Amino acid sequence: MKPRKIGDGVDLIGAVDWNRRLFDSLIPLPEGTSYNAYLVRGKEKTALIDTVDPTMEGVLLRQLQDVERLDYLISHHAEQDHSGTIPTVLQRYPEAKLLCSAKARSLLIDHLQVDGERIETMEEGREISLGGKTLRFLSTPWVHWPETISTFLPEDGILFSCDFFGSHLATSETFAGDDPRVLLAAKRYYAEIMMPFRPAIRKNLEKVDALDCRLIAPSHGPVYDRPKTILEAYRDWVSDRVSNLAVIPYVTMHGSTEAMVFRLAETLAARGVKIQIFNLPVTDIGELAMSLVDAATIVLGTPTVHAGPHPAAFYAAHLANALRPKLKFAAVIGSYGWGTKAVERISELIPNLKVEVLGTLLCKGHPRREDLEALDELAATIADRHAGLDSAG
Ligand code: FEO
Repeated sequence: MKPRKIGDGVDLIGAVDWNRRLFDSLIPLPEGTSYNAYLVRGKEKTALIDTVDPTMEGVLLRQLQDVERLDYLISHHAEQDHSGTIPTVLQRYPEAKLLCSAKARSLLIDHLQVDGERIETMEEGREISLGGKTLRFLSTPWVHWPETISTFLPEDGILFSCDFFGSHLATSETFAGDDPRVLLAAKRYYAEIMMPFRPAIRKNLEKVDALDCRLIAPSHGPVYDRPKTILEAYRDWVSDRVSNLAVIPYVTMHGSTEAMVFRLAETLAARGVKIQIFNLPVTDIGELAMSLVDAATIVLGTPTVHAGPHPAAFYAAHLANALRPKLKFAAVIGSYGWGTKAVERISELIPNLKVEVLGTLLCKGHPRREDLEALDELAATIADRHAGLDSAG
């Protein structure tokens, strides 16, 4: 993509990564991603905000070919998808100062071998003038790492928010507009990356609310030209509101656990509880994470392998614990052949989930009539607890 103007003297540059399908060898990217950098030209000085993933270095350098002088290079966040091309940019612009948070300084030196003499650290509220344009730095920890900062350009009302509000979405569209695809990708991004940091995000949202933002320019995905939409969505995601949704991740080996899951799901649906079922061996974990953003209940279904949960259920429990969703209720169902400690092992895996356990039901072999009736009772209990919750989400 060629540089795209988003304001007077402000260009979106960087790279669209149409083909990337996995991030950090962990997070699926079904719709690719982008690494947004921004060039801000004042009357006297020029700043580049963030760089790109090292795999896209050539794309960034082509976009900078007409930029003869760079006074500042701002590193919001030391993760490589934004910082990886810093050494090359600093080499090309020997006069440029690298601006970052105090916490980022050592990371940039250790991971990228940046010369510490070129770094100047920026604290909350510090301003740098480019001549008619002011870069005001905001400390925004935990969106995504503790060292992360954002930059506000008050003359244009542009917040450069780095990972905060980002979306993994490869698109040629510069602005989000009302495209529901962007909001969905942003929710997925929040679920996979931001959800563990809800309390910190609430505080960062207060800082953003105090600004007069006309544009929010993240480091992944389109620029928000209607910031209200993404701000309202984030407020809801980080709130304590849960919806009338039971998420049922499960794995089955010979059909017993699956029969239990389907019976439970059928009864829940009949009682008006919205359900989302994930067959774990073929599940996109991003979809599972997204379902946990506002679900009230998780029911994990697992057969027994070596006396404990199936490895796929083990991973799902570990993931849910790491993401710290605002779940209120949980249950474990499944099956075994000889004996089982699956419930005990799963409960050890989820100390971060502050949930009320509504039931555990492990049946020997295929579920019998009494097992199915017990599942109906569990469904009734879940439906009772969900009374009054709305289904939006
Ligand atoms: Fe887009 Fe946390 O890096």
